[in-house]
Amino acid sequence: MTTLIQNGLVVTATGTLHANVVVDGEKITAVVDRSAPVPQADKIIDATGKYVLPGGIDVHTHMEMPFGGTSSADTFETGTRAAAWGGTTTIVDFAVQAKGTGLLATLDKWHAKADGNCSVDYGFHMIVSDVNETTLKEMDACIAAGVNSFKMFMAYPGVFYATDGEILLAMQKAAASGGTVMMHAENGIAIDQLVAQAIAAGRTDPVHHGLTRPPELEGEATSRAITLAKVANCPLYIVHLSAAQALAAVAEARDTGQNVFAETCPQYLYLSIDDLARPDFEGSKFVCSPPLRPASHQASLWAGLRTNDLSVVSTDHCPFCFKDQKELGRGDFSKIPNGMPGVEHRMDLLHQGVVSGHLTLPRWVEVCSTTPARMFGLYPRKGVIAAGSDADIVIYDPAAAQTLSAATHHMNVDYSAYEGMPITGKVVTVLSRGRLVIDGETYVGSTGHGQFLDRGLNQYLV
Ligand code: URP
Ligand code: ZN
Ligand code: ZN
Repeated sequence: MTTLIQNGLVVTATGTLHANVVVDGEKITAVVDRSAPVPQADKIIDATGKYVLPGGIDVHTHMEMPFGGTSSADTFETGTRAAAWGGTTTIVDFAVQAKGTGLLATLDKWHAKADGNCSVDYGFHMIVSDVNETTLKEMDACIAAGVNSFKMFMAYPGVFYATDGEILLAMQKAAASGGTVMMHAENGIAIDQLVAQAIAAGRTDPVHHGLTRPPELEGEATSRAITLAKVANCPLYIVHLSAAQALAAVAEARDTGQNVFAETCPQYLYLSIDDLARPDFEGSKFVCSPPLRPASHQASLWAGLRTNDLSVVSTDHCPFCFKDQKELGRGDFSKIPNGMPGVEHRMDLLHQGVVSGHLTLPRWVEVCSTTPARMFGLYPRKGVIAAGSDADIVIYDPAAAQTLSAATHHMNVDYSAYEGMPITGKVVTVLSRGRLVIDGETYVGSTGHGQFLDRGLNQYLV
């Protein structure tokens, strides 16, 4: 079965091209300039006036993740379907090592959750929360099993937190084995003192989640992670970077040529601590870590995306319903489960960045698809419209108007962090490995179509 996507503007990380795209089975077989004769095909999709993009790749999601006494509300089934609605055709989710358990047993557990349940392709990173001899040995086995990125936490003492010594050991192991360490960089030891002081003083509203996690403590932890990575000679990827101080540390390291990379997320580009301060416990909807910052940080983050000191935009999709989940923290912000929904809206929110003049069209594709593919060993199978690549294709209408809302989104969560926000642009068609998944206003995909991706190495390392 061949499909011809005709008359669209193909957007890649390097530019735009008026071209027809031919798909045969699961692969793109040709990208033909529109001045050339039109190829024959069994099925034609007309993309006149639309962009033709490589499918979005969200390398930071948490489907059905146990956290804070509850579990994130999207399953692999609901979460990957919502991703597809928003033009994301690959996710890389986090398997979570519980203390006292092994990495391989953890990986098996996450395979069992995802296998047969996904609408789009998926890979895994591994959260390392228990550094010991077995863990360090099993990092090699994870790499052999297609999982070569290991997230560690300088935050959440008693849960995921690792000491500097443990981080150094894991970094040395990753460096020797071809892995990348991903870091949640916040000084959790200092933060816990500020949290205890706030609760003791009766400052219990959600805004205090933000006020007890100051940007300086993200900047400090980011610098420390960079130093540890330098000593271990380990590639480092800073996740969910939110603060100008942390970005400055990343930029300084990159200027020296160190293998340090960073991502930010739409919530840090569009939302702020003012949202955390919304009355009547509404602020709990915006509790995530690192927290939303004063709006003054946003200009630095957009600039970082332009200069490539921030090279990826992921969502850190970790949804908890307002009712019964966020409400666990009424009267004590430290008990609000940390995380926000977003997997469905990353492509739209970053296209809004193009509309507003923050990013160019190719840069939109680069930070949302091509660089994530290269960073996490999926390129050129994913992340590009080219002959030989998987036919993960999004047809995007840049002129459509939509309003983000929980009433219309497909994520399994009872609120939208962007309720009422007008967006210019909308996904109209999505193909995953050549298979139609979204057709206008209809989901036509199937649960179980999504396959596990055995990922290669980070392609930015020299
Ligand atoms: O608040 C957040 N970010 N929740 C998800 C877990 C993490 O730290 O990424
Ligand atoms: Zn994190
Ligand atoms: Zn996360």
